[in-house]
Amino acid sequence: MSSPPLPRGLLVYGAYGYTGRLVVEEALRQGIRPVLAGRDPHRLEAVAREVSPDAPLPFRVASLDDPRELARALDGIHTVLHAAGPFVHTAPAMLGVCLARRVHYIDLTGEVPVFELAFDLAEEAKETGIVLLPGAGMDVVPTDSAAVRAAADCPGATRLEIGLHSPGPLSRGTRRTIAEHAADGLLVRRDGRLVPANPGDPEFLPAIHFDPAAPPVPVLPYTWGDLSTAWRSTGIPHITCYMAASRSTRAILPATLPLLRGVLSTRGGQALAHVLARRGPDGPSSRDRNEVRVRAWARATAPDGRTAQVILETPEAYRFTAMAAVALAGVVGNGGLEPGTRTPAEALGSRWILGLPGVHMVHRSQGGPPGLRKTQAGPPSFVPPAEESM
Ligand SMILES: NC(=O)c1ccc[n+]([C@@H]2O[C@H](COP(=O)([O-])OP(=O)(O)OC[C@H]3O[C@@H](n4cnc5c(N)ncnc54)[C@H](OP(=O)(O)O)[C@@H]3O)[C@@H](O)[C@H]2O)c1
Repeated sequence: MSSPPLPRGLLVYGAYGYTGRLVVEEALRQGIRPVLAGRDPHRLEAVAREVSPDAPLPFRVASLDDPRELARALDGIHTVLHAAGPFVHTAPAMLGVCLARRVHYIDLTGEVPVFELAFDLAEEAKETGIVLLPGAGMDVVPTDSAAVRAAADCPGATRLEIGLHSPGPLSRGTRRTIAEHAADGLLVRRDGRLVPANPGDPEFLPAIHFDPAAPPVPVLPYTWGDLSTAWRSTGIPHITCYMAASRSTRAILPATLPLLRGVLSTRGGQALAHVLARRGPDGPSSRDRNEVRVRAWARATAPDGRTAQVILETPEAYRFTAMAAVALAGVVGNGGLEPGTRTPAEALGSRWILGLPGVHMVHRSQGGPPGLRKTQAGPPSFVPPAEESM
C-alpha cells in the first residue's frame, strides 16, 4: 500500500533506533522522504546518508528534555511518527509538544500507561484538531482489527480475549521496554476498569488455537496495550490479553513471577534486567523479517454463550510495524482521520489492515450453544479476504 505524498512533512523521532530505521526505509519505499530526528547528531547524519546515499535525508537534533528545541524541530511538520522508546519515558514530552504545535502524533508503543495518557488527552486533541494514534505497530494494529471484527460478529459480547503469537527475536528496545515494565505485574480489564491479576489464576486460558488446524499454542496472560485500545474500539468491558509462551515458560513462570517481580522492583534487579536486555543483537535479522509470520487471535463471547473468533496473519513483527506505521502516517497526514485519540481499527475499520502486503484473515467463525449458532459455526474455515463480508 503506498500513500499519496504528504502535504507537509513527516518527522520520524528515534530514527537511528532499530525500528526507527526500518520505518525510515519503509517510508522511502513508499515514496515519502521523512525528516529524521533524535538526540544524537552523528547517528542521525549516518542514517540520513546510509538510507539515501544520493540525496541524504534532512535531519534535526532535538532532546526530549528540551521542549523549546523539540518544538523548533516540528517547524513545518504535519505528523510525528514517534519511534523512541520505552515510550513511558519519551511519549509525555512528545505528546505535549505535538499538542502545543498542532502536529499529529503516531507512536509504536505497546505500553498501557502510554495509551491511557493518550486517551486522557483525547479532548485536548479534539479541541486542537490533531490526531493522536498510539500503537501503530504490531501491538496493536492486528489485534485491534481482530478484536473489532470479532466484536462485530458477536453483538452484545461482554468478554473479549486477545492473543498474539509472534515468533522470532525481539529488538533491544523491546527487551528494554519489557524490562522496564517487568515489575508492574499483570493487568486485565474487568467491568471497564484496569485491575491487577494473578497470572497463575485458573480463569486464564492455558493455550490458544492460533492455527485451527494445528495443536494449540501455550500462552500466558500479558499486559498488552489492547487492554486500553480494545476497550475504546469495542466497548467490551472484560478484556484479557495473552502472549504465546514456550511450554516450559508456561509451566514455570506463573509460580515464580511473584519472586521475580520482587527482585525486578529493586534498583539492583532493574539494573540487571537492563544489562541483560542490552545484550544480544539489535533486532531480528533481515532473514527473520522476511520469513517469520505472526498470528493475532481474538474471541468475543456474549452472556448467552455465543462466540465469534477471528485470526489474522501478518508478516514478521518489526517488518509489519514499519509497514503499518508508515501507512497510518499516510492516512493521518492526508487528513483521513477525525481529530482525537484513535485506535487503528476504531478509526479505519477492521478491514483496513487487509490492504497491507502479506496480511490475511485466516479464520473467522461464530459459535455458541445449539439454537443460537449463526451462519459460520462449525469447523474452522479459511476465509480469503476477497470473500469475507465485513
Ligand atoms: N508495539 C510494537 O509493536 C512495537 C514494535 C517495535 C518497536 N516497539 C517499541 O519501540 C521502541 C523502540 O524499539 P527499538 O527496537 O527501535 O529500540 P532501539 O533500537 O533501542 O532504539 C530506541 C531509539 O529510541 C531513542 N531513545 C530512547 N530513549 C530516548 C530518550 N529519552 N530521548 C531520546 N531518544 C530516546 C534511542 O536513542 P538513543 O540511542 O540516543 O537513546 C533510539 O533512537 C521500544 O519501546 C519498543 O518496545 C514497539
